[in-house]
Amino acid sequence: MSKKVLLIGGAGFIGLNIIKALTRRGNYQITIADNFFRGKLDQELQSLVDKYGIKVVTDDFTKPEAFSELDNDFDYVYMLASVVGVEYTMKMPHELIRINSFLILNTLEWMKNSNCKKILFTSTSECYAGTVESFNYSVPTSEEVPLCINDVQHPRFTYAITKLLGESGFIQYSRAFDFQCTIVRYHNVYGPRMGFKHVIPQVVQRFLKNENPFKIYGFDQTRAFNFIDDAVTGTIGSMESENTNHEILHIGDMNSEITIEELVNFIGGLTNFNGSYEHVEAHDGSVSRRCPDTTKAKNLIGYHPKISWQQGVEKTVEWYKEYYLGGGVVFE
Ligand SMILES: NC(=O)c1ccc[n+]([C@@H]2O[C@H](COP(=O)([O-])OP(=O)(O)OC[C@H]3O[C@@H](n4cnc5c(N)ncnc54)[C@H](O)[C@@H]3O)[C@@H](O)[C@H]2O)c1
Repeated sequence: MSKKVLLIGGAGFIGLNIIKALTRRGNYQITIADNFFRGKLDQELQSLVDKYGIKVVTDDFTKPEAFSELDNDFDYVYMLASVVGVEYTMKMPHELIRINSFLILNTLEWMKNSNCKKILFTSTSECYAGTVESFNYSVPTSEEVPLCINDVQHPRFTYAITKLLGESGFIQYSRAFDFQCTIVRYHNVYGPRMGFKHVIPQVVQRFLKNENPFKIYGFDQTRAFNFIDDAVTGTIGSMESENTNHEILHIGDMNSEITIEELVNFIGGLTNFNGSYEHVEAHDGSVSRRCPDTTKAKNLIGYHPKISWQQGVEKTVEWYKEYYLGGGVVFE
């Protein structure tokens, strides 16, 4: 029997790729709930909607009444809706708190009163970044690490604060009411059509604009980049496994930890840059090292990322080069 799946925030980067994977597998009835604040009903998503009869509910889900437009008997609910990105934390931290918190609280209240079976909440490594930075916790970092906010006054941390609310909220509500939940903490998911606010698209764009000397911000910081196809496999695996109720799983790629300098040099090679580089200190509030320990995901769901960072970055850079050089307009 086919499974009924809802993706709240399903028109975004990760949502679109989960939908692509589900339609490839077949046997899902899919609904997207999104206000298109950031996601786009572009050609790619529209053609999936048409081909697979996907239902699209367009509304702002910070309003509780928007949930009355949805069925209430989904097998799987992916909760992806959120304002995402450092830029928003700096530009509109108060709005980010309002939007993300209402999205979480409304979803919790709706799950409580619905007949949906399981929800997956998408959290972030930012929840423990402060712990690693301030208390020297080990990297690669496992799910057991205490969570910590470095400075509650700094707007940068509003995003992580809302994700802490979500982690605790979904676990407590699902224990109190009759549904299952799983939390995944993503770590630098990237790939084609990821938007324009992440490091890779921005670096590609700056190379194409011939910046020289090319500034490498936070050159010595490390990140473990997780290619979208691997992140999607980990997400669907976390949702559909019988072993993951009330579990928090780190989804990332512990074999892909590289410095920002290595990343920029590699992209420079792909864009035929032959100018010079300049090292610049990192932005305020960004952690020096981040890499997940994904042993738990490996043990519980057999998670095993397959795409090397070089393969993934090459695919992503190709997509952005084609987009920019084809006259693509930068959207949010
Ligand atoms: N991409 C990453 O590396 C990463 C890392 C950590 C956590 N996450 C989390 O994973 C989830 C998905 O991330 P993404 O990269 O696909 O982000 P995204 O911004 O591409 O997708 C989020 C979607 O939520 C929608 N949305 C926002 N406000 C809404 C509202 N009021 N009502 C309905 N829809 C609304 C947006 O339009 C967008 O389509 C997010 O919750 C994000 O916090 C992502």
